[in-house]
Amino acid sequence: MGKKTVLVSGGAGYIGSHTAVELINAGLNVVVADNLSNSDMSGVEGVRKITGVDVPFINVDCCDKEAFRKVFEQYEFDSVIHFAAFKAVGESVADPMKYYRNNLLSFMNVIELMREYDRHNIVFSSSATVYGEADELPVTEQTPRKPATSSYGNTKQMCEDILRDSVAAYPSLKGIALRYFNPIGAHPSALIGELPRGVPQNLVPFITQTAAGVRECLSVFGDDYDTPDGSCLRDYIDIVDLAKAHVVAIKRMIDGCNKESYEIFNVGTGRAVSVLELVNTFERVNDLKLNYKVAPRRPGDVVAIWADTAHANEELGWRAERSLDDTLRSAWAWEKHVRGL
Ligand code: NAD
Ligand code: WQD
Repeated sequence: MGKKTVLVSGGAGYIGSHTAVELINAGLNVVVADNLSNSDMSGVEGVRKITGVDVPFINVDCCDKEAFRKVFEQYEFDSVIHFAAFKAVGESVADPMKYYRNNLLSFMNVIELMREYDRHNIVFSSSATVYGEADELPVTEQTPRKPATSSYGNTKQMCEDILRDSVAAYPSLKGIALRYFNPIGAHPSALIGELPRGVPQNLVPFITQTAAGVRECLSVFGDDYDTPDGSCLRDYIDIVDLAKAHVVAIKRMIDGCNKESYEIFNVGTGRAVSVLELVNTFERVNDLKLNYKVAPRRPGDVVAIWADTAHANEELGWRAERSLDDTLRSAWAWEKHVRGL
């Protein structure tokens, strides 16, 4: 316990469960705290099955400081990876207070409790959404952030700032913000993966549900953009690769190898993939035909964004390894597992 234990808040969710597996694979102990507001116990059970470790799970709302305090009293972790947040961009525009309350309060509670209980290292789940429609591509960590176009995006910018200021003011605290690009795919075991509630807003779950017959037809939002094939460009990062980035980030702070008390890293592949290319790749590697049509542009979409990953490659010694083919095979294997196909 102690130095080698990591509290994973929001660890029952998509990215948290995959990260828990990789932390355990790397020899670290994991404690998961989650209120299951956007997940269920299948993620934690999957982690236990894959690793053979009976990972402790605490059902707690990180916004409830007194309840959350008990986790700090009970467990001797020195590091926290904070995933707990709401993440639906459209919902955040319709109900901003839901997002400001949950995403900001849970994060502020983590930082305050870390100070109070003398815990030192924190990784925060940030997002490429903080760049908005960038003037230059690919984006580096120095690329200026644009004003957020959703309350969700605003919470990510605000939490980054809260972390920067806290680390500057409280010498015992070290922090890393990881700016994820578009996480996709599932664990190769197909025991854990993404479990969207209701109609998926993200591309890959919509594709896999369409292939499974749960959705009738995928809409490709726009084919008249100024891109090679007219559809939007994104940087799709494999979920296991993304999980491993958290392991190196946390170890960097545990080992005292961080160069600054607060650091930011892009976590992507460095490769731009269009919506149509992704759809075609999914069809090819899984040997199926997808029912899709071109539909109007989706309001709020940026045309293109992908990562310059040099900083993560050089400083963290991390790079994305899994091919898009393998990632899209894993996404389909997971959907089939969920649907019993
Ligand atoms: P997810 O919804 O699968 O996981 C988040 C988990 O946090 C869920 O299990 C949920 O129940 C839990 N949670 C939410 N509020 C909580 C609270 N107050 N107390 C305790 N638990 C709480 O989402 P994910 O895709 O795994 O995302 C994890 C993090 O990464 C989020 O902060 C998200 O904003 C960020 N992120 C996600 C993406 C993406 O595309 N998936 C991209 C960039 C950043
Ligand atoms: C990808 C591409 C769509 C669905 C979002 C958040 C971002 C981050 C990751 C959290 C776009 C197109 C999609 C569909 C489509 N999350 N698409 N048909 O918008 O890049 O990023 O998730 O931080 O903040 O905004 O991801 O998967 O929704 O869309 O054509 O049914 O797929 O237009 O070009 P996005 P996405």
